[in-house]
Amino acid sequence: SLTVRASYADELVNTAKTVASPGRGILAMDESNATCGKRLASIGLENTEANRQAYRTLLVTAPGLGQYISGAILFEETLYQSNVDGRKIVDVLVEQNIVPGIKVDKGLVPLAVQMMSHGAKVLTALPPALLHTINREHVLPNGVPWCAFPTDHLHWTFEVAQKVWAEVFFYLAENNVMFVGILLKPSMVTPGAECKDRATQQVADYTLSLLQRRIPPAVPGIMFLSGGQSEVEATLNLNAMNQAPNPWHVSFSYARALQNTCLKTWGGQPENVKAAQDALLIRAKANSLPQLGKYTG
Ligand code: 13P
Repeated sequence: SLTVRASYADELVNTAKTVASPGRGILAMDESNATCGKRLASIGLENTEANRQAYRTLLVTAPGLGQYISGAILFEETLYQSNVDGRKIVDVLVEQNIVPGIKVDKGLVPLAVQMMSHGAKVLTALPPALLHTINREHVLPNGVPWCAFPTDHLHWTFEVAQKVWAEVFFYLAENNVMFVGILLKPSMVTPGAECKDRATQQVADYTLSLLQRRIPPAVPGIMFLSGGQSEVEATLNLNAMNQAPNPWHVSFSYARALQNTCLKTWGGQPENVKAAQDALLIRAKANSLPQLGKYTG
C-alpha cells in the first residue's frame, strides 16, 4: 500500500542520512570469498570459513569503530555469519552504531559477455561508442599503460566518467529512483595505478568538477572507493576534496585503504588482534578528519 511505501521511503532517506553523517564513512568489507581468499593468501592464510570469520570478527569488534564508521558493506556470507564468540556480525555492527549493508552485485563481468547474456537491455544502457572506449582502454584503474602524463590521463578518465555517470543518472531517473534515498559509490578521477605522480590537487579538482556536472545535489552522500590507491593517497585526496563546502557529503567507502595495514599487522596471529584493530582505527580516524576537511597529516 501507499502507507507502506511511504514508510520505506522514510527509512531509506533516514538510512542514507545516517550513513552520510559528518566525519564518518563506510568500511567496505564486502570482499567476495574469492577476493577474501586473495587477501588471506597475502598473509599466508588459507581461505577457510574460520579464517574469514576470524578476520571479519577482528574488523567489526574494533573498539569505538562507530565513531568514524557509519556503515559497513558485507558480502552475503557475512550477513548470516557470527563472530568468533557466536554473536551475529550484523548485531555487533548495530551495537557499534554502524549500519550493516549488503553487496548485491554478482562480481565483474566483461561487457561483451554481459551484452550477450542481457541482450538489448544492456546495449541500450551503454551507447556503443562508450562501450568501445571502455573495452579499448579498461575501466579498472589497474594497469593503465600510459601513465607518463597524469594530466592527459586524468582528462581522459574525466571524459569517460562523465558519460558513464550521465547514463547512470538517466536510468536512475527513468526507474523512479528517489535521489534523496541513495548514496553513490564512485571511483575518483585518478591517474593510472602505475603513474608515479599522484597529483592530489588535480585529482580533487577533476573529481569535484565531475560531481558538479553530473550529480544532483539531492544525493546525500558520495562515498568514494579507494580503487587501489595507497592508504595515505586515499586520505589526502578525500581531504583535498573537502577543503571548500560542496552540496554533498563527500566521504569514503574504502576497503583496501582502510584494511591494508590492519591485515598485515594481524598476519593471522591471535596475539596481533589488538594491534591490528588499532591499525584499523588509525586509518578510520585518518579518513574521518578529511571528511571534515581537517586532516593535517
Ligand atoms: P577498494 O576501496 O579496495 O577499492 O574497494 C572498494 C569496493 O568497492 C569494495 O566495496
